[in-house]
Amino acid sequence: MNKRLLLACLCLVLSTASLAVKPKQAAIASAHYLATDAGHEILAKGGNAFDAAVAVSAVLSVVEPQSSGLGGGGFYLLHRANDGKQVMVDAREEAPAKAHRDMYLDKNGEVVRDWLLNGPKAAGIPGLPAGMVHLSKQYGKLPLAQSLAPAIRIAEQGFPAYPRYVEAIQRKIDVIRRYPASQKAFLINGRVPEVGEIIQRPDLAKTLRALAKKGRDGFYSGTVARKLVKASQKAGGIWTRADLKNYRVKERPPIYTTYRGKTLVTAPPPSSGGIALATMLNILSAWDLTEMAKTDPAKRVHLTVEAMRRAYRDRSVYLGDPDFVDIPVKRLVHPYYADGLRASIHDDKAMPSDLLPGLKQVPQGNHTTHFSIIDTEGNLVSATLTVNTSLASGFVAKGTGVLFNNEMDDFSAKPGEPNAYGLIGGEANAIQPGKRPLSSMTPTFVMGEDEVAVIGTPGGSRIITMVLLGILDFFDGHDPASWVSLPRYHHQYLPDAIYLEPNALNPGLVKQLEQRGHRIVRMSHPWGFMNAAWWSRQNGQTKAASDPRWTTGKGEVR
Ligand code: DON
Repeated sequence: MNKRLLLACLCLVLSTASLAVKPKQAAIASAHYLATDAGHEILAKGGNAFDAAVAVSAVLSVVEPQSSGLGGGGFYLLHRANDGKQVMVDAREEAPAKAHRDMYLDKNGEVVRDWLLNGPKAAGIPGLPAGMVHLSKQYGKLPLAQSLAPAIRIAEQGFPAYPRYVEAIQRKIDVIRRYPASQKAFLINGRVPEVGEIIQRPDLAKTLRALAKKGRDGFYSGTVARKLVKASQKAGGIWTRADLKNYRVKERPPIYTTYRGKTLVTAPPPSSGGIALATMLNILSAWDLTEMAKTDPAKRVHLTVEAMRRAYRDRSVYLGDPDFVDIPVKRLVHPYYADGLRASIHDDKAMPSDLLPGLKQVPQGNHTTHFSIIDTEGNLVSATLTVNTSLASGFVAKGTGVLFNNEMDDFSAKPGEPNAYGLIGGEANAIQPGKRPLSSMTPTFVMGEDEVAVIGTPGGSRIITMVLLGILDFFDGHDPASWVSLPRYHHQYLPDAIYLEPNALNPGLVKQLEQRGHRIVRMSHPWGFMNAAWWSRQNGQTKAASDPRWTTGKGEVR
């Protein structure tokens, strides 16, 4: 490129950057209107997107305990407007010091699913409280106590039970009945609450107050910590005071990749999401998918599925907690590597997963939560928080209101043995003390000179493919309402099948996929709960959207 051209380009870039118009309005999309309201309440009090994220997280821990909570963890992807800092706050749960690789195997070496999924033994050391404290201290403008106030108020005064909440309790009732403190938290006079009944969580309010007053010590040491450890040990768990005291959030540089001229900023390990997303987009970058959607939609689905298959194979082989395993990140996200993977894709034939060298090896609900925030300064938060499966371990520690996660199931309890999401893993994701289980949570930003997307969703192993489909739809020129409502399909290497939401693809297209050799599994229920936001840097317009599969219309989006 000659010098004059270079100068012209530079001027263009600078002028577009300086033209970027700040968001005219803040935008928040979360899984519950009370959480979205709390986010706006905190913005109105002078808080920024990071304070709002604390408020939204805390309210979700009260009103959506089936999905996230103080006893769980999550990832916060942040973009700070004033200096452009981008970071992922890793508040993922950690295996307790007494954990060991065979802790969920019986004497015959078989995995005991009940230990992995129910009761205190299923729980890693929670990260969410530390995550909120970190977010508030390092990035927020308001005191932590102010950002936690809406959650405390709602926990004390109550919120109306809604169908998803009631159904989650119904599904977990057998486990809830095992533990008196769980019954106290989730049942009313020993029965499942009805839709519309007011739910109060006084113990949880007390724990939130301790956090508000003392910061991380309010949860990780002192009275609350003592109660958590005592309850865990009494019911067969292995947490110690030292485990709680030693827990730290970790700031990790995001994964970066580019696609069609825009930069993707996404979740690094211990999430598998960002690497898998980068691999898939790199593979797909060879084709004009927008054009293909018009000329040959079956081919577009086929190629996308083949990209998914390859990325999920790598997930199972290479990925785990980066503080414990060496992950060849540079190679996995490199375009040349994707070129190699793409070379084995045929236009007209599915490649059986068996033919991809790798490991040998289901349906799920939505029990994790994602929210997206854009504030008027241009700060961005994309956060996915979880307790793992619906209502997690079902175990509440007496006197704290804290529901223990069952994130230990995200480890591979035994090489090759599928977890609750049918995911398999090997050595890289084996259990070790202090290690964080591999996640699929994929909070992501797509950053262009002209526009920015904030996107993510719950959905276990399907999170990554949902985020991919949403991003492809964004690049097709559609808006957030379309990304979140799009019919979904999914392939995760093993089981070797394309999973379809009801009516996801038309019968003619499905036939063309079958002719290529794909096995199709039609699911009876939809998945995901995507909450996304968008900002035009050209005119400052913002939009947010919440997945129509679950939105009640009461104000999850504002
Ligand atoms: O971190 C993970 O990948 C899982 N614990 C997320 C679980 C989830 O999204 C459940 N929702 N269906």
